[in-house]
Amino acid sequence: MKGVILAGGLGTRLYPLTHVTNKHLLPIYNKPMVFYPIQTLVDAGVTEILIVTSGPHVGHFLGVLKNGKELGVTHLEYAYQEKPNGGIADALALAEDFADGDSIAVILGDNTTDAAIKDSVQGFKDGSVVFLKEVPDPQRFGVAVFDKNDSSKIVRIDEKPKQPESNMAVTGLYIYDNKVFDYIRQCDPNFAGRGELEITQVNNFYIEQGKLSWQELKGYWSDAGTFKSLHSASSYWAAKDNA
Ligand code: TTP
Repeated sequence: MKGVILAGGLGTRLYPLTHVTNKHLLPIYNKPMVFYPIQTLVDAGVTEILIVTSGPHVGHFLGVLKNGKELGVTHLEYAYQEKPNGGIADALALAEDFADGDSIAVILGDNTTDAAIKDSVQGFKDGSVVFLKEVPDPQRFGVAVFDKNDSSKIVRIDEKPKQPESNMAVTGLYIYDNKVFDYIRQCDPNFAGRGELEITQVNNFYIEQGKLSWQELKGYWSDAGTFKSLHSASSYWAAKDNA
């Protein structure tokens, strides 16, 4: 399996910090943000990694990560998302050549977790896996809707629903087989009315084929794309480091 970190986007909610550098290079406690998802992949045994990025500060990644050796990455590639807010699925489409027929573990570059995904990676066969987490504010996320007769089965994922049918959010960690790239080609930019290719639509394609499974992410998880979440993520990792 190969690893993909999606570090495009505009990071507008972190202006003016993201005028200085790319969101994913901002510090979470004592490390640049992107180190955390890289570590999660390397800990899972995924050491061939593609970073998809965009915007005016892309050159900074090379200076910080170099070839990734210091982090245990054996092969590091970069891709450039030309439309920085084209959507998560638009960014992922750029990983097709890199994946070269293999399956991929994908993490959004502003997600940090101390959960281990090694067993999920090693046990993966085909289809897709999404990692869910119970949250107090599901309206901000893709939300899993479960079968009323079989609560282990997801029937649909709603993108940022006003009235969520559960409080289980789809986190920014996913495992896909190589069919993901065909599904991305079928994505409709109007799916959620934002002009973006949405990963939620990709996940719904997998559900329609009976090929989406889910696991609860055990441990701490947060994105760090707002000042509040950036601050709380820094506090969490600082406390853990000093424990
Ligand atoms: P978001 O936080 O939803 O979007 P953003 O990074 O553009 O930030 P803002 O809303 O503040 O402008 O995206 C979550 C992650 O997904 C982000 O850290 C990087 C990745 N992403 C891409 O790689 N390409 C994209 O087009 C988008 C929208 C997100």
